[in-house]
Amino acid sequence: MEIVTCIAPINIAVIKYWGKKCEEKIIPVNDSLSATLALEQMCAKTTIMASPNFKENKIWLNGKEESFENYRLQNCLTEIRNRVRNEENDSKQILSWKIHICSENNFPTAAGLASSAAGYACLVYSLSQLYSIRGDISTIARQGSGSACRSTLGGWVRWHAGVKDDGSDSIAKEVAPADHWPEMRILVLVVNETQKKCPSSIGMKNSVLTSQLLKYRAEKCVPERIQQMSQAILEKDFTTFAKLTIQDSNQFHAVCLDTNPPCFYMNDTSRDIVELVHCFNEVSGSLKVAYTFDAGPNACLYLLEETVPIFLSVLNKIFPPNDNDIDYVKGIPIDIPSSVPEEFIKSIPIKPKTNGLLKYIIYTKVGDGPRLLNDPNEHLLDENGLPK
Ligand code: PMV
Repeated sequence: MEIVTCIAPINIAVIKYWGKKCEEKIIPVNDSLSATLALEQMCAKTTIMASPNFKENKIWLNGKEESFENYRLQNCLTEIRNRVRNEENDSKQILSWKIHICSENNFPTAAGLASSAAGYACLVYSLSQLYSIRGDISTIARQGSGSACRSTLGGWVRWHAGVKDDGSDSIAKEVAPADHWPEMRILVLVVNETQKKCPSSIGMKNSVLTSQLLKYRAEKCVPERIQQMSQAILEKDFTTFAKLTIQDSNQFHAVCLDTNPPCFYMNDTSRDIVELVHCFNEVSGSLKVAYTFDAGPNACLYLLEETVPIFLSVLNKIFPPNDNDIDYVKGIPIDIPSSVPEEFIKSIPIKPKTNGLLKYIIYTKVGDGPRLLNDPNEHLLDENGLPK
């Protein structure tokens, strides 16, 4: 019997991936670039056990048994098996054993945060540990969920779309390590909402089929923007970084509107956050906060550590939590000043919203890639291969 347990991070793109050139192999129409977020605050955890005694393959996700016949899971497994067969590898015997997989997130999946990226990165990383696969695994994780390929690495990561038909050069590479820009912080604002969203796979398929803007974006905008963004990160130029992040998020959502049928991911609260960030930057006299939104209403804000206390106290004033919500700001511990400088708050022409529009806030930073956990107490499966 063999068992491994690993954790993998989420990532938040500042240049977005939207649209596939090849649906089957998940090859994107454009490059994208993201920061990997610290494992301490948000991660997926996966245990995989292989045993000659198991009768069938099984998978449990967040406490529920799911079908093993999911084609994305199957694609990842096929790729992994091919790698083991083609490499000098001692794991050929255990490859014939059935496996049990148990995976969970340490943050609510319902929050609509990049959970599939962390989940597939964790699955593929755990498989690579189980079967002792070396080298790049981003091309394998990509076939579970596109954005998952960026979660196989830490720090600032660029997913190169590649030019080959087989997708072998559609690969994630590090732009800068996790400790490159130590002052960078991220606030994830989890928005309360009940509306069901259009899955990203369907949304992007429709965009590729119907949006002219998507073609223009992929051909004309992203190639230049990705160069500028890499440079801004390498030079730690926050103003350029923030400008490009905001621009790219808005262009991605413009592509969503240009799609037939259109997909609406941002809601009224998202738009109120956009307005607040622009006001805050205006009053500050320079770009201090950048927002970006994925396929859902939650905002991810990039800002430097020095801006966090003042921004959070303004945010608390404009988006007050529900009464008695002592756990409103999760993640890195922080003291939010209770009083905002009068002058500053007066110059922000936005009235406080009703309480509870935001469910909670996660305060985090840029972090490392997936990790193997050596402590057997961390396993999610017991000695019989069943969830603990
Ligand atoms: O990995 P997917 O198929 O869930 O795509 C997600 C794409 C966005 O999150 C909207 C953008 C990105 O680059 O992460």
